[in-house]
Amino acid sequence: MDLKDYIRTVPDFPEPGILFRDITTLLHEPKALRYTIDSLAEQTGSLGADYVVGIESRGFMFGTPLAIKLDCGFVPVRKPGKLPAAVFKEEYTLEYGKNALEIHQDAFAAPSRVLVVDDLLATGGTAVAAAQLVERAGGTVVGFGFIIELTFLNGRAKLPEGPSAVALVSY
Ligand code: PRP
Ligand code: MG
Repeated sequence: MDLKDYIRTVPDFPEPGILFRDITTLLHEPKALRYTIDSLAEQTGSLGADYVVGIESRGFMFGTPLAIKLDCGFVPVRKPGKLPAAVFKEEYTLEYGKNALEIHQDAFAAPSRVLVVDDLLATGGTAVAAAQLVERAGGTVVGFGFIIELTFLNGRAKLPEGPSAVALVSY
């Protein structure tokens, strides 16, 4: 199955000149959705993760079913002001704009191997911020899993060196 057949490209969203890779059309199709989660699980299962961290919001859509498949717990990294207990916060630069992410300080009580999941690797700012949050909360990032990588933005070069990084399709 070629997942690109299920990813819709929308020109000039959210700003003129941006080609938006839309995964709602992939989520829409049961066979493509299942294939996506199965493929991610195949390529990340050997990392032996204890937790999947999903990045709000599109990372939640893939991270939670992947956690179930890998028999992991799920930890949300959220946009500011959403998590109710004590948090760590990291600011980061987005492909278009600025933002911040938070994680619960007690997300990893015991030493934990963590797989960070998001739909898209673009500039890498989001994934790097999530990885820093994981480490601040006491977890160890053992891998990154993405559906899509925008290789021309070179986000992969920003990711920390040790953990593996899997992307199912690239543009
Ligand atoms: C998008 C995408 C990734 C991030 C990638 O999320 O889902 O999380 O940007 O960009 P980067 O590699 O340049 O940091 P966005 O912040 O638009 O929010 P959403 O997931 O809630 O739609
Ligand atoms: Mg996102």
